[in-house]
Amino acid sequence: MRFAAKALIATLTLTAGIALAKEGVQDPTVKIRMDLMGTVGQNTKILGDMAGDKAPFDAAAAEAAKTALAAAAAQIPAVFETEADDPVSEARPEIWMNTEGFVEKAKGLETAAGAIDVSSLASLQAGMGAIAGACKACHSDFRAKK
Ligand code: HEC
Repeated sequence: MRFAAKALIATLTLTAGIALAKEGVQDPTVKIRMDLMGTVGQNTKILGDMAGDKAPFDAAAAEAAKTALAAAAAQIPAVFETEADDPVSEARPEIWMNTEGFVEKAKGLETAAGAIDVSSLASLQAGMGAIAGACKACHSDFRAKK
């Protein structure tokens, strides 16, 4: 368990490190989706920090982060609906070539966030893998560094 939690934290630090849209983003559509991803990242970090003993477990704060994460996940398809690009964007064109697949990955995160039991530290830790997996599943197909 400890080992798994450590590996998970390493993943989360990588995926959730940036909290706001990148500096220099010009396109307003791209900024909105980066800000939404920033919200996703922030709330995942709150849960990940508690799960990894970096922050004290707080059931009410975990519940708020879970709710915010599920709500943000539900907005992913809408904010990515219009194809838009920006020099700093990491969105891959596959998002608009395979919208169904993209929406499915967004649903995957929404489901994982909705399913996580945040009533105890142990159950939070048990559910984090599914959340991290949902980020990775979408990023590996639809997000790339330019
Ligand atoms: C349905 C697909 C999808 C899911 C699920 C997803 N992401 Fe993303 N994420 C993206 C895409 C696409 C981008 C690149 C957006 C861009 O640069 O235009 C991105 C970008 C980001 C960024 C960078 C934002 C910025 O300012 O450039 C962070 C941080 C992030 N995601 C965190 C997460 C975390 C944490 C999770 C899981 C809890 C997650 N994402 C789940 C598709 C997804």
